[in-house]
Amino acid sequence: MADSPADTTTELLLAIESSCDETAAAVVDRDLNVLSNVVASQAQLHERFGGVVPEIASRAHLRAVLPVIDEALSKADCRPTDLTAIAVVTQPGLVGSLLVGLTAAKTLAAVLKIPLIAVNHIEAHLYACRMAAGFDVFPAVGLVVSGGHSNLYHCKAATDCELVGSTIDDAAGEAFDKVAQMLGLGYPGGPAIDVAARNGNPKAFKFPRTFLREERLDFSFSGLKTAVLYEVNGIPGSHSAPPPELTEQRIADVAASFQQAVVDVLVAKCRQAARQCGVKRLLVGGGVAANSQLRQGLDELQREEGIEVIAAPMEYCTDNAAMAAIAWELYGESRFAALDVDVTPGLVRRGRR
Ligand code: KG4
Ligand code: ZN
Repeated sequence: MADSPADTTTELLLAIESSCDETAAAVVDRDLNVLSNVVASQAQLHERFGGVVPEIASRAHLRAVLPVIDEALSKADCRPTDLTAIAVVTQPGLVGSLLVGLTAAKTLAAVLKIPLIAVNHIEAHLYACRMAAGFDVFPAVGLVVSGGHSNLYHCKAATDCELVGSTIDDAAGEAFDKVAQMLGLGYPGGPAIDVAARNGNPKAFKFPRTFLREERLDFSFSGLKTAVLYEVNGIPGSHSAPPPELTEQRIADVAASFQQAVVDVLVAKCRQAARQCGVKRLLVGGGVAANSQLRQGLDELQREEGIEVIAAPMEYCTDNAAMAAIAWELYGESRFAALDVDVTPGLVRRGRR
């Protein structure tokens, strides 16, 4: 336990994240200094399926969770008895995956007799921006773009985020992964498309930008995905000439044009959300926030609209446990979880829990 309650650096949180295909643990002090941040990725296990297979994911979490926790503690030079609290992501995510992290966290909290804190994965993605900024960034509009989500929030506080827009079909990251598969670029697709697009022409193909000019703050990426599929493979049943060979240049052009279509929509909806919510600050987190073209688009938004854009640092865009330090906010409000707390796999559409 902390030597002195006034010394926040001696209060240590162990955070555990296992909501999808990364097993992660981190030790973060109360001043939000990250003492260790260990992430074991399962990407290789899922690669040949082109997406995450839930049963494979939960089994891999079982193998990784204890070594990852051990490594996080030892890198932070921290003994279990030094810990003040245990934080764990309990929602949203894959049920079998979430349960592995939660069971480990409950066991540690019970044995060490310290508080257990349940964390929302999406809020944690946005909290990575708060950690990077080093100051209280709320209120703000929050964009979370990942493999599972494309959501816009009006965040009044770190743990008080109201959903104001979301995808009606695929998540942005999911579209990146599927288009990468069509182009033979492997999994996860986002980073591969990002790289391939650098040599491509973003105007080579005119792909759809759904809802771009509409008031609503929602997203849809399935039409875009289908348009790319038809461009690459041709339209099924069509008598027109087969599509040209998928050369390196054509792959780059399709990747760049697809990426530009996603970025145009994401940036436009952020601009609209900031106007509608009446805030001048935008937080951006989740795996797709690592995209270089999106970051460029957000820079332009910042210049044009006078919106302060705070994007999660690259190492905290994709899934990690350091971002679960949002638990310190809940700790301050004594919002602890009972030892019989369960996981909530789906996205809970509400503000304050
Ligand atoms: O946040 P995250 O690690 O996991 C979820 O919560 O889903 O996000 C993973 C997603 C994947 O779909 C991956 O392709 C995408 O983020 N991603 C990217 C980039 N890096 C990761 N998408 C576009 N550009 C990138 N540079
Ligand atoms: Zn995530």
